[in-house]
Amino acid sequence: MKAYQIQAGAGIAGLERVERPSRDPGAHEIRVRVDAAALNHRDLSFARGQFYSPPSYPIVPLVDGCGDVVAVGEAVTRFKTGDRVITSYYPRWIDGALSPNKTAVSFGAQFDGTLAEELVASEEAFVLAPRSLDPIMAATLPCAGVTAWNALFIAGAIKPGGSVLLLGTGGVSLWALQLAKAAGVFTIVTSSQDEKLERARSLGANAIVNYRNNPEWQDEVLQLTEGVGVDVVVEVGGEGTLARSLEAAGSGGTIVVIGRVSGGGGVSIEPGALIGGAKRLVGITAGSRAMLEQLVRFVDVNQINPAVDKVFPFDAAPSAYEYLAGGRHFGKVVVDVRA
Ligand SMILES: NC(=O)c1ccc[n+]([C@@H]2O[C@H](COP(=O)([O-])OP(=O)(O)OC[C@H]3O[C@@H](n4cnc5c(N)ncnc54)[C@H](OP(=O)(O)O)[C@@H]3O)[C@@H](O)[C@H]2O)c1
Repeated sequence: MKAYQIQAGAGIAGLERVERPSRDPGAHEIRVRVDAAALNHRDLSFARGQFYSPPSYPIVPLVDGCGDVVAVGEAVTRFKTGDRVITSYYPRWIDGALSPNKTAVSFGAQFDGTLAEELVASEEAFVLAPRSLDPIMAATLPCAGVTAWNALFIAGAIKPGGSVLLLGTGGVSLWALQLAKAAGVFTIVTSSQDEKLERARSLGANAIVNYRNNPEWQDEVLQLTEGVGVDVVVEVGGEGTLARSLEAAGSGGTIVVIGRVSGGGGVSIEPGALIGGAKRLVGITAGSRAMLEQLVRFVDVNQINPAVDKVFPFDAAPSAYEYLAGGRHFGKVVVDVRA
């Protein structure tokens, strides 16, 4: 079967097209013919050698994938041949609170991921794909989708009529925009580009702020919420954004810390910024399989079509990496493994 492999730290240029043998599933495993694989910021981090505990040998990259079950092991009970499935980010995190063991390994980081024609893994590591989505869109749920779900509804515990601030127009933030809109939440989206902000508005953003033209964008957020601040911030920035996100959150608000696209080094927080308004700072990492199943149902019920910016054919997977690294994308970048 055709596949890509990469060693952590090898850079995008280290992405290598290879032929790998097809493998029969073990008793509790399924074999999936991968139709689509989506990229995430973490895949760039892996290529750059910035991801935790990578193996010392090349693996198939990417965690996001959607495809059809083509073979099942003799003890498999969750799936049958012909089912369309998506990967679950942490195969060991089925439900409940996370633990170091549950989040120790994920596809395309500690073992083979989805950028290949086939994927063989435990049946526990998959869920049925949303019926309402094609494989390209369905492939975007396991990382960005479930992270947005966790941020809004689990860690952020947001309610209809609440308000959320979304930083930038990357994969996680736009997933959060689409989920929040469907849940009746007031949404404020920031971006470095007006053109992206207009696209965010057409996806349902209630208010938009250009963070490049308004370096003190937290003031704008306070104005937009009549001085109250938002209930939840989906904080993907880090350096230069975290302290501002704290200001933009209202009393009792939650800042869900997800990423550090703007860097993590120079972050400093004044404790009083949390104490006075009794604000909560909560880190999250992707989500459990149970959260992914909730997300699948929500997507089907609300007919949500996640924002896919660009689809690359399998042969052009390195260009997909370069495109994501260039930061021009609006939403998800996906590889069509069949094309
Ligand atoms: N904790 C987790 O489980 C988890 C899961 C997924 C992702 N992440 C992390 O979350 C972050 C975002 O991931 P992603 O996949 O959504 O990335 P992405 O698709 O590459 O999006 C990055 C976006 O961040 C925005 N951005 C950059 N600098 C910014 C700044 N100073 N202020 C506000 N926005 C800024 C840009 O938006 P504009 O172009 O509109 O300006 C850019 O498009 C990454 O650090 C990733 O590693 C963590």
